[in-house]
Amino acid sequence: MNVAVVLGTSKTDGNTRRLVNEFVNHSGAALFDLSDNDISYYDYEHRNRMDDFIPLIIELSEFDHIVFASPVYWYSMSAQLKVFFDRLSDLLTIEKQLGRRLKGKSISVIATGFNTELPDCFIQPFMLTAKYMHMEFTGWTYAAIQQETDLAALGAVAEMATHKVH
Ligand SMILES: Cc1cc2nc3c(=O)[nH]c(=O)nc-3n(C[C@H](O)[C@H](O)[C@H](O)COP(=O)(O)O)c2cc1C
Repeated sequence: MNVAVVLGTSKTDGNTRRLVNEFVNHSGAALFDLSDNDISYYDYEHRNRMDDFIPLIIELSEFDHIVFASPVYWYSMSAQLKVFFDRLSDLLTIEKQLGRRLKGKSISVIATGFNTELPDCFIQPFMLTAKYMHMEFTGWTYAAIQQETDLAALGAVAEMATHKVH
């Protein structure tokens, strides 16, 4: 299984990155940090068609499974990842052929937050988007990080996340 991780966080060396690093070490997945890419808000006029979104999708289309990694910011995915998701609309308009290359792939989610439980409203956009894009949603893994010992447990959480990859 050829796995890519798309990470969207405001802290490049933060909690989510730490969990993703453990996951990458465990699974051998390729990491794409949205902070390394210049991807702007969805534009109905597609004036941003030359930014890094389409090249990133071309790279991702080579993988069988995509893991989306995000902290919980105000019960939602990070703004970085939301901008990426909005841009999926480019694949339904100006890049339909490229969009079809995502069909049949599977996706999962890795998230970190402070609260003990991951709210349903966080995970729903991933599940519904997968359905809309004809991709399989295979599950999510959440690490609640409240103290140092929670960070020490990230290796075990990353191992759980690999079971969602197929
Ligand atoms: C702007 C902001 C909003 C947050 N909102 C939530 C939230 O709604 N629920 C939650 O459990 N944690 C929330 N947190 C805590 C983060 O999700 C948590 O610390 C996470 O592990 C940070 O990951 P990062 O280091 O990749 O940013 C928030 C943190 C920030 C900075």
